[in-house]
Amino acid sequence: MDATTTRRIKDAIAFEAARTETPAGFPRLPDIPAARYVDPQFLELEKHGLWKRSWLYAGHDSQVAEPGNWFLIRNTGTPILVVRDLQGGLRAFYNTCRHRGGPLVTAESGQSRGFVCGYHGWSYALDGQLKAVRDKRDFVDLDFACRSLLPVRCETLGGWIFINEDPDAPALLESLGPLADELGQFELDNLMLVHSRGYDVACTVKVLLDVFLEVYHLKSIHQDTADRFLDHRGTAITLWPHGHSRMVTPNRRPDWIDPGTRGMPEIPGVTEIPRINNVSYNIFPNIVMPPTATGIPMLVFWPLTANSMRIECHWFGPKVPTEDLNPLWEARIRNFERILFEDTEFAPQIQESVEGPGFKGMPLNYQERRIYHWHEEADRRIGRDRIPAEMRVEPVLDDWVDKS
Ligand code: FES
Ligand SMILES: [Fe+2]
Repeated sequence: MDATTTRRIKDAIAFEAARTETPAGFPRLPDIPAARYVDPQFLELEKHGLWKRSWLYAGHDSQVAEPGNWFLIRNTGTPILVVRDLQGGLRAFYNTCRHRGGPLVTAESGQSRGFVCGYHGWSYALDGQLKAVRDKRDFVDLDFACRSLLPVRCETLGGWIFINEDPDAPALLESLGPLADELGQFELDNLMLVHSRGYDVACTVKVLLDVFLEVYHLKSIHQDTADRFLDHRGTAITLWPHGHSRMVTPNRRPDWIDPGTRGMPEIPGVTEIPRINNVSYNIFPNIVMPPTATGIPMLVFWPLTANSMRIECHWFGPKVPTEDLNPLWEARIRNFERILFEDTEFAPQIQESVEGPGFKGMPLNYQERRIYHWHEEADRRIGRDRIPAEMRVEPVLDDWVDKS
């Protein structure tokens, strides 16, 4: 984080802590229509217009370290295969044979020299090319060249692998914009995947994701945990293009350090702001990430059914041989889960409630503007004209987006 950004964030924290009203010119945010949370029609629009058109975290480099390594990602709703090819490149394909749609792999991960469909034995190279067809003599004019596995875009940020089903989407780094530069300080190439765990929650993605986009709830939900050390009234928010955002919440005591991280090895390049504040990013649409100098928890939100979702939590820390992993990690992850469970335990009851007639819409405040920003981007991805008028959000935050 450069000196100008650091100065701007410090000034913003001081400004936020001292203000007695919303900043001049901040618009009244129109209510977010309730239908966006519960109407199957809107969830369907999101499925095609948003989830299929966004960069989504698929996994870590280390899961495909060697040529021939592969893993399957099912979270996007369509099984997608991520493969390290013989040249060391990363590729992703639909796990769908070009004959009659048989799955190429049925396990979650593995190592192979190519893929042989379990249905009629068509075989493909790691780069997706169709290589052999059983009883080829029975096909008339089968053109192998146009029967390769269908690719899915696959790009990386450090060791993080992202996929995108939209062939026309901007490149990952272009989509991330200033966020990618800012994450440089965490030396993502030098981090290892320390721990991963998934939790199913009985609510939709937005019901839970929204909780992580604001700190307005700290005094209620986290009164015995996060509220003790974070001062939510000093929170400085930055909205970026493409729906991404950052929230910097100062510690109540400037010299406070999470006792659970004391003695853990640090990522050397981490700058002042994330060292002494709680910084949390939203990588649109479904990642929430509060990185620290000693490691990064990445929360990834995935829809499961009309009223259930999975949250995955991946932890990244400075690379060491696995047997040398710091024993403090266990307690660190447990502490984090304690706060996480405060949010996830409440969410199913919010879901139940918003499904009822008592929920008409949401009036969001200035502190909650990251949620509104998320919705504006959702409409841009889906295409405003595809959304019934009563379900749209009016774009009002453009002047509050940092485009520098
Ligand atoms: S479906 Fe794959 S070989 Fe027939
Ligand atoms: Fe929370």
